Amino acid sequence: MNKILFLPFILSSFLFANSGEILYKQKCQNCHGNYGQLSALGHSEAITGWEVAKTVAALQGYKEGIRNTNGMGAYMKIKMSSFSDQDINELAKYIATLKKGN
Ligand code: HEC
Repeated sequence: MNKILFLPFILSSFLFANSGEILYKQKCQNCHGNYGQLSALGHSEAITGWEVAKTVAALQGYKEGIRNTNGMGAYMKIKMSSFSDQDINELAKYIATLKKGN
């Protein structure tokens, strides 16, 4: 019985540890590519391996509606509005690990 009760805790810590990767694959990969190599909708730079601080600044800028580098900032504002600061940090950490050819 005890083992069954502990299972959800083990599963949730597993999810938490990988949440940046999971979020990226679910919410970003379609436009940015599986390792950030694509120009999303033909309007973004490749984001492969961007430093954490650079990605956080970009994503917070979109969320606040003050970033629009390639004329499509409104798209990213809609995308980012549902992400918490914690989600943004996790995403940025994951993006920093991406490498060409992953
Ligand atoms: C519908 C397609 C789409 C999705 C999904 C999407 N993006 Fe974007 N992303 C864009 C576009 C278009 C831009 C360029 C916006 C602009 O003009 O500044 C962009 C820009 C960016 C930039 C800055 C790149 C630059 O050129 O300055 C980062 C970082 C980024 N996106 C990360 C993400 C993350 C993380 C997610 C998932 C939460 C995500 N994007 C989901 C389309 C998308």
